[in-house]
Amino acid sequence: MHMPDLKEARIRTNKEVLTKKASNLKSNKFKNKKYFLKTYGCQMNVHDSEEIKGILENLGFVNTNILEEADIVVLNTCAIRENAHDKMFGFLGRVKHLKKAKPELLIAIGGCMPEQESIANLLKEKYPFVDIVFGTHNINDLGKMILENNHKQEIEVYSIEGDIYEGMDYVRDSKYSAWVNIMYGCDKFCTYCIVPYTRGKQRSRKMEDILNEIKELKENNYQEITLLGQNVNAYGKDLNLNYDFATLLEETAKIGIARIRFVTSHPWDFTDKMLEVISKYPNIMPYIHLPLQSGSNNILRLMGRRYTKEEYLTLFNKIKAKIPNVSITTDIIVGFPNETEEDFEETMDVVNKCQFDSAFTFIYSPREGTPAALIKDNIPLEVKEKRLQILNKKINEYSLMNNQKYLNKTVKVLLIGESEKDQNKLYGYTETMKLVNVIAPKSDIGKIINVKITDAKSFSLDGEKVIFINN
Ligand code: SAH
Ligand code: SF4
Ligand code: F3S
Repeated sequence: MHMPDLKEARIRTNKEVLTKKASNLKSNKFKNKKYFLKTYGCQMNVHDSEEIKGILENLGFVNTNILEEADIVVLNTCAIRENAHDKMFGFLGRVKHLKKAKPELLIAIGGCMPEQESIANLLKEKYPFVDIVFGTHNINDLGKMILENNHKQEIEVYSIEGDIYEGMDYVRDSKYSAWVNIMYGCDKFCTYCIVPYTRGKQRSRKMEDILNEIKELKENNYQEITLLGQNVNAYGKDLNLNYDFATLLEETAKIGIARIRFVTSHPWDFTDKMLEVISKYPNIMPYIHLPLQSGSNNILRLMGRRYTKEEYLTLFNKIKAKIPNVSITTDIIVGFPNETEEDFEETMDVVNKCQFDSAFTFIYSPREGTPAALIKDNIPLEVKEKRLQILNKKINEYSLMNNQKYLNKTVKVLLIGESEKDQNKLYGYTETMKLVNVIAPKSDIGKIINVKITDAKSFSLDGEKVIFINN
């Protein structure tokens, strides 16, 4: 047994990051047994789940979407806000009943939740029916933990700076669009955020390893890759080598994969060199997710974001000027402790100036162990909810306004699959990351086609395939 420790999770040293080979353990022990995997959280977790699927399938498990059919249930959890916590414990209640009826069922919990000391303790004391608890640092050991489990709870969670694994057998969700980790962890320590504690130190993969993975994806006909990290543009800062994110982006573009994306960029690390590279290569998509968090300099300082409202706006305008038709989205938190009406107005002012293509908006949620959680707050929840409502209304107005600019235009769309809402339609994304529902033949899935936009809503576009273009 190994339990997490918040104090250890906070430590950053100069210890060398080791690159290890993934174990890719294979066995027939669970041949044709079924796994049910549920993923919460960010793209990092979605991609970690592709690694978890690889581990499970290497042990013989096959996937099921029906919980009741499962022989093993794996939850890959998120800890970013309180509602993520509630969702996981709600789901665990359902699984507990299943386990009563089927005692041989294995239950495993991983991801960011158990990386929190209080959660690991709670699982230990109140949830003995959970067989396996693992963290973000030892996904590679999951196969071994499953093979060796005898229905006695095993908790193995580490609060370490972390290492890097290479050569995992991923089972990827898409055959056309792939996630590629370029770095792990985060060293920014924004005062409200749990991620640096749950994911460890910033560790960049070697550029050569990343490029080799991308070349292989291209050979396997992938049309799109998304470079992944909590701060992609801080890539390389921890390596002391002579390359940075702009170099990586340029080398990636040269491989010639049709579409390249990256998330998330931190305004602090955004360089002119990056902008040069993005505008030079047509296969780097004109889409940037640039989290604002707040428009008030006072709140930004308390958040530890390291930029001012003015600096954010200058960067925003520079990106808009340099990259034609770029779409920019953002993340905003309202209700940070003691956020005044004036602070909130500053946020609305940035929203009105930037008119974002879309935004993820949140009410601040205190995370135990983070510095912001210690600030006494005197703003009532109703006020925070009201602010979120006002913000969302504006955000949706601008999303609709930006989407309407696409009406009657012909744009390139990478088709990903069948639309869930309408079986006769396919869905895909524009270069600017707009979701489009398209009337097109199913044989076009996985292709980039020309689509004429016929309708625009706040969260999606509708369109039809264009065969000939007259311009
Ligand atoms: N690395 C990314 C963000 C990852 S977390 C970045 O720095 O931009 C995704 C978003 O969740 C954040 O951008 C922030 O808006 C939100 N978030 C993080 N911690 C939060 C908290 N304690 N309460 C509410 N929202 C939070
Ligand atoms: Fe969290 Fe800040 Fe790191 Fe993003 S940059 S993951 S918000 S600490
Ligand atoms: Fe959640 Fe962990 Fe991602 S806390 S947002 S799953 S890094």
